[in-house]
Amino acid sequence: MNRFARISGTGSCLPPLRLTNADMAARLAERGIETSDEWIVERTGIHARHFVADGVFASDLGAEAARQAMQAAGVAPADIDLIIVATSTPDMVFPSTAAIVQHKLGIAGCPVFDVQAVCSGFVYALTVADAMIRTGSANKALVIGAEVFSRLLDFNDRTTCVLFGDGAGAVVLEASDTPGILATDLHADGKHVGILCVPGHVSGGAVLGDPLLKMDGQAVFKLAVGVLEDAARAVLTKAGKQESDVDWLIPHQANIRIMQSTARKLKLPMDKVVVTVNEHGNTSAASIPLALDHAVRAGQVKKGDTLLLEGVGGGFTWGAVLLDF
Ligand code: ACO
Repeated sequence: MNRFARISGTGSCLPPLRLTNADMAARLAERGIETSDEWIVERTGIHARHFVADGVFASDLGAEAARQAMQAAGVAPADIDLIIVATSTPDMVFPSTAAIVQHKLGIAGCPVFDVQAVCSGFVYALTVADAMIRTGSANKALVIGAEVFSRLLDFNDRTTCVLFGDGAGAVVLEASDTPGILATDLHADGKHVGILCVPGHVSGGAVLGDPLLKMDGQAVFKLAVGVLEDAARAVLTKAGKQESDVDWLIPHQANIRIMQSTARKLKLPMDKVVVTVNEHGNTSAASIPLALDHAVRAGQVKKGDTLLLEGVGGGFTWGAVLLDF
C-alpha cells in the first residue's frame, strides 16, 4: 500500500499589536525618516503588519498556531511524533525553537528540530516532514513556521523596515493512504548570501558584526520572479499536472508585485492566489502557513483543492510543494 502525507489541520497566530503604514510613517518620522502609506502600498501591497511585545518569542507564536492546527485536525499533543519549526528568528542560539515549542505543548520524546531556510523555510520543512512520513519515520507531524522579524529590523532603513512582520502558522501533517503531498522541489544557491542577510554573529559574549537585516531589494526581486516560476513548473511536471489543475497558489507573501508576476507567468488569475501580505507584511517562514490557515478559515481553500505553495528567501533558497488539501 502506498503511503503519503496529508495536511489534516491548520492554525495560525498573530501578535495583537497591529501597525498600519501610517503608524510606521509616524515611528520613522520620529527619527527624521520619511515614508508614506502611498509608497508602501504602491511598491509592496502592504497596508499593515503585526509586531510582538517584549518578552514574546517565536516559540510562543508557534505553539499557539500548533494548538489551533491540532484542534482543527482532531489530534491530541500526545499523538504528535515529530515537530519541525521553520524559523530564522529562534528564541535562543540553541536549543532549537522546536524543542521549546515541544515543551510548551506538553509533548516529550518525539524528535524535534528547526529548519533554517529563511522565507523558504516552511516549504523546506514540509518537504522534510513529507519524506519522514512517507518512509515511516513519523505518523503525525507538526510543521510550523514562526518568526519575530521585528527584532531584526533596522528602523533607520526605510527600504527594509516597512516590509516585515511577526506571526506563525502551523499544519498537522499525517500519514495517509491517499495523497496529500503530490510533489516537492527545493533549491538553493549560496553565491547570493549577501543580497539578503543578517550578517552579525555571537562571539565571546558579544554580538559581532551587524545583527540587523540587510537586503538588496531589486536583486532579490529579480531572482525571486525567475525561480518561483521554475519551481512551480517543476512540481507540476513531477506530479503530471497542468497550471489549470491548481485551485490555489499560496506563494510566500513578500510583495504583491512578485505574486502578480508569478501568477501571470503561470497563467493563473489573481482570484486563484491567496493574498495576505496586505495585512501581515512579510513574515518570512510563517507567511505560507499563515496565509493557508487564513484562507481555510475564510472558506476559500476547501478539502480536495489542489494547492501550489511556493517559497523564496535568503540563502538564496527557493522551492515549491504541490498538494491535494
Ligand atoms: N518610503 C519611501 N521611499 C522609499 C522607501 C520607503 N519605505 N524605501 C525606499 N524608498 C525610495 C528609495 O530611497 C528610492 O528613492 P530614490 O529614487 O530617490 O533613490 C525609491 O524609493 C525607489 O527605491 P527602490 O529600492 O528602487 O524601490 P523598488 O521599487 O525596488 O521597491 C522593494 C523596493 C519594495 C524593497 C522591492 O525591491 C522589493 O519588494 N524587493 C523584493 C523584496 C523581497 O521580496 N524581500 C523578501 C525576500 S524573502 C526573505 O528571505 C526575507
